[in-house]
Amino acid sequence: NTSFTVAQSSGFKSVGTVAALDKDGQILNKKSPVGSVLVIRNPNDSNSLIAVNPTCTHEGCTVKWKKSEKYFDCPCHDAEFAPDGKVLKGPAKKPLATYQAKIEGNSVVVKA
Ligand code: FES
Repeated sequence: NTSFTVAQSSGFKSVGTVAALDKDGQILNKKSPVGSVLVIRNPNDSNSLIAVNPTCTHEGCTVKWKKSEKYFDCPCHDAEFAPDGKVLKGPAKKPLATYQAKIEGNSVVVKA
């Protein structure tokens, strides 16, 4: 299918479906083609997506997206990260890695 070809040629890889994103409010795929990835709709612009590597930069726990608070929260030592990956609260010191993400047809695609 054409959109798949376009996605592949531009370096974007499918990590899940739009249906799953809208059902769960996120896609958490730890074994995607680009590695561990967490995709959400941008809370400030529902037409765009945000994708991060959800591996906490402190000691490697998986962060969770807090939809109402609009930040990523680490369950292990309570670090918090902004939607763009920046550290809001320690003990983490480095930002989460971020990826480009968009919708192609029925797929959510991410570029590492
Ligand atoms: Fe995330 Fe420690 S592993 S705050």
